[in-house]
Amino acid sequence: MIIEKKEALRGELCVPGDKSISHRSVMFGALADGKTEAENFLTGADCLSTIACFRKMGIEIEQNGTSVKINGKGLHGLTRPNGVLDAGNSGTTVRLLSGILSGQSFDSVLTGDTSIQKRPMKRVITPLSMMNARIDSVNGNGCAPLSIKSSTLTGIHYLSPVASAQVKSCILLAGLYADGPTSVTEPAVSRNHSELMLRYFCADVKTEGRTSTILPNPHLIGQKIEVPGDISSAAYFIAAALLVPGSEVLLKNVGTNPTRDGMLRVCRAMGADIELLNVRSDGAEPYADLLVRSSSLHGTVIEGDLIPTLIDEIPVLAVLAAFAEGTTIIRDAAELKVKESDRIAVMTENLTRMGCEVEPTEDGMIIHGGKPLHGAVIDPHLDHRIAMSFAVAALAADGQTEIQDADCVCISYPAFYEDLDSLCGR
Ligand code: S3P
Repeated sequence: MIIEKKEALRGELCVPGDKSISHRSVMFGALADGKTEAENFLTGADCLSTIACFRKMGIEIEQNGTSVKINGKGLHGLTRPNGVLDAGNSGTTVRLLSGILSGQSFDSVLTGDTSIQKRPMKRVITPLSMMNARIDSVNGNGCAPLSIKSSTLTGIHYLSPVASAQVKSCILLAGLYADGPTSVTEPAVSRNHSELMLRYFCADVKTEGRTSTILPNPHLIGQKIEVPGDISSAAYFIAAALLVPGSEVLLKNVGTNPTRDGMLRVCRAMGADIELLNVRSDGAEPYADLLVRSSSLHGTVIEGDLIPTLIDEIPVLAVLAAFAEGTTIIRDAAELKVKESDRIAVMTENLTRMGCEVEPTEDGMIIHGGKPLHGAVIDPHLDHRIAMSFAVAALAADGQTEIQDADCVCISYPAFYEDLDSLCGR
């Protein structure tokens, strides 16, 4: 994909449905009694992997574009899959599913693509084993493939060393099948879609501060879900509109859950002009329309409890920081090293190619912004969020940028380049 510097971005856009909520609609819908209907479902490759896994366990799922109907069979209705379950590139699928599979009366093997097979799974193997699950890394390297054998689960209270919604959700889902309450305490609050949605599906889940507790064996009931636009996808257009002079963009129906909106807070701290219009709430989640105008930005510090609320937006925030006046420090974000790529290394490599002065650190980056960037050849290392972040950088850099393996965006945003073009007046 070749992208050139642009004049101004103008117009409106509805970004696709939230990835985390789309995955959970299928998972919780499968475990509920009756039909679950999800509208504005994300048809990215990751969520299609979740659908494929549940179909393989006997769940009937009708997909008609962004409308998905799941015929739930109740907490004990999944059937033994014929063969290995394939999560593709999706960490959410592997980690949440490992919790569900640990509570089943059948054995299973769960794997994914080469990137997934390098990502750390000990973070779920350890707590699930404490719950008496029989889960092992097949190659003994703490990664997928995971072999999960049927066992009887015990409720635990787990003090998680990482602020990870995938770990928290995995344990809470295993807790559905345990012999007593299960709780997870995190070092900082991560996204709470599982807690909100499980409650919406009639599970007994309570959250107090950094601890969430679930009671076992609920009668989950199928629901109608209108999936909000994904703030992690909106982030690219927010950044593009802020960076390209003369821009004004309205992003409609974007989910603004406070455990996900850290990027908005950081952008404002950098001097961004972002208005929240038409703030409302539907079902379990809050929404708004975001009006974004180009702004002159300055550097900031991104750290601490804010990190889990913007973890997927750090690549595009790093791009904003490269164009902002002054220095931006990102710290407490070592999790970036174990995402779809090592995002500290890959952001540093590609920002440097565009002429930005950036220092990688153990848990983040120091970005010296404000110097004009130039177009370059970008290698996203097959990481969708890196590709989209540099498509944004390309709009404000001098000359031409080439994004290699550009179609890796299909993981979370198949129509990304078309939507970007529509705002650039082509
Ligand atoms: C997700 C949680 C986050 C995020 C991922 C989706 C989820 O991962 O990076 O894209 O749906 O629970 P961690 O919880 O591991 O940080």
